Amino acid sequence: MAIERVTDTSLHEDDTEEKAVEFSLRPTTFDEYIGQPRIKTTLKLAIDAAKKRGDSLDHVLLHGPPGLGKTTMAGVIAHEMNANFRITSGPSVEKPGDLASILTNLTDGDVLFIDEIHRLRRVVEEVLYSAMEDYKLDIIIGKGPASRSVRLDLPHFTLIGATTQAGSLAQPFRDRFGQQFRLEYYTPGDIQKIIERSASLLGTKIEAEAAKMLAERSRLTPRIANRLLKRVRDYADVNGDGIIDMKSTKAALEMLEIDELGLDPADRNMLELIIDNYGDKPVGLNTIASLTGDEASTIEDFYEPYLMQLGMIERTKRGRVVTMKARQHLGKL
Ligand code: ADE
Repeated sequence: MAIERVTDTSLHEDDTEEKAVEFSLRPTTFDEYIGQPRIKTTLKLAIDAAKKRGDSLDHVLLHGPPGLGKTTMAGVIAHEMNANFRITSGPSVEKPGDLASILTNLTDGDVLFIDEIHRLRRVVEEVLYSAMEDYKLDIIIGKGPASRSVRLDLPHFTLIGATTQAGSLAQPFRDRFGQQFRLEYYTPGDIQKIIERSASLLGTKIEAEAAKMLAERSRLTPRIANRLLKRVRDYADVNGDGIIDMKSTKAALEMLEIDELGLDPADRNMLELIIDNYGDKPVGLNTIASLTGDEASTIEDFYEPYLMQLGMIERTKRGRVVTMKARQHLGKL
């Protein structure tokens, strides 16, 4: 399987050591992929059937909070299909022509992964409609009255779209994905297994008790688990004998100010600002954003999903409400 970026805007990012390590921790097969059992079972069957028929796989939409392994899952699908894996993202495909060039360079069976697919511009998205449905590309040649439309055949590819906001996709676009899956938060047990697997790939010893503690503070999210693991490994390498035990784990978590529920200073700050300014009254997303100085989309995509999962924030018709559970946790009753 060749991993290839079809657009180069984020290439530098992926070249950084951090990203390279993260990439090497990613499982490449369903057997290695921990968690998301329902999705794996359904996809395995679809892949076996497509392979048996010699067909490409139906288009797949993966949605859910960030860090739960949408890109990883897409890579696994490509690997299990023995297909090339081409990666791009919504914001980096600026014009219909950019997409046309990506599509015409695909070969039969290729998996095209578009991350943050909700950020594709409408004019680009519309080019995808006939590409997804009929493997045809409609292009307009020339301008004004002399222009004409030409239909090109495209290879039978599989589009995998990933988004944190499935609700913001246009319905006709969404309908063109034959398979749609919501990635769920992992169980603490699965996060612990991921941490132990990653530690072993990094060549670091970790005690089971320490892996359990890290798992409890990883927001049920593999990306965070792997990041925390690397920070604790740094701590154990510098301050200890390199073995991740309870002592180094506790000390590193304290240094990072990550509490028993996995909340970091930014989460606590946001909750405290809401409580101090609005008490238990509902607050709009934009108001929260101006309180913290973040973009509204950052609050919505990164802070809120886990805080809602924990029952610290509730969404009501009139806005977000901080719950009693959050006030208890912060000692603000
Ligand atoms: N590393 C990151 N996510 C993973 C997963 N779901 N399974 C195994 N290793 C992982």
